[in-house]
Amino acid sequence: MTATRGFGIDIGGSGIKGALVDLEKGALIGDRLRIDTPRPATPEAVAEVVAKVVRHFAWDGPVGITLPAVIKKGVSQTAANIDPQWIGTDADALFADVLDRKVDDIAMLNDADAAGMAEIRFGDPAARHGVTTLLTFGTGIGSAVFQDGKLVPNTEFGHLEVDGHDAEKKAAASVKDNEGLTYHQWAKRVNRYLTVLENLIWPDLFIVGGGVSKKSEKWVPLLDIRTKVVVASLQNNAGIVGAAAAAVEGIEH
Ligand code: BGC
Repeated sequence: MTATRGFGIDIGGSGIKGALVDLEKGALIGDRLRIDTPRPATPEAVAEVVAKVVRHFAWDGPVGITLPAVIKKGVSQTAANIDPQWIGTDADALFADVLDRKVDDIAMLNDADAAGMAEIRFGDPAARHGVTTLLTFGTGIGSAVFQDGKLVPNTEFGHLEVDGHDAEKKAAASVKDNEGLTYHQWAKRVNRYLTVLENLIWPDLFIVGGGVSKKSEKWVPLLDIRTKVVVASLQNNAGIVGAAAAAVEGIEH
């Protein structure tokens, strides 16, 4: 029997969010709990908060956990916007230990990959066919690529070099805020980024997510690219939902 409930945790630069998830509907069951990300966000400090979140819900099943990093076989490989101590950390083992679970009951995955898994399962059905690329615009830019619904993990297209710059340093949503850009100015940068990306991977569909997709009407209509663009339907909770799904379905690395 397939489990109909799961538990997901989304670890971000400012908050660590967890919730029970209804895996038939792709929706949270009850409220999510958010705790500020500790500073510095070392693996040990983050693990303590994650344990607190899981205890709060008295959840004893498998747990899916996202990190804004490349994850290979449960080991975090990069740390673009997180504490450098995460590089080389066996996150699977760390969380299994602190949550008192078997390593197999922990599913670690990249945050954008998790959000993409949620969109593929519960969002626009068009995303399940052909090549779909989800991009999350937040502190950085996350990417997730799917071929007929199957994930190609850890794509890291936020770090594509565009016009001599790391793309996320110019086109992440945080840059819009930090540089005080208007939606119009920022959309131009996003447009340039998406043009470079579509010319390299020729997707059938882009899904744009991240907090800034709540105000999608202010910038998505300004985009002028070949590929069809839709707005993520799960928005803020996509990471949690995707993580919970990964924990139940298992993930490939
Ligand atoms: C990281 C990615 C992550 C993205 C969104 C990037 O800086 O390299 O792993 O998915 O930010 O959080």
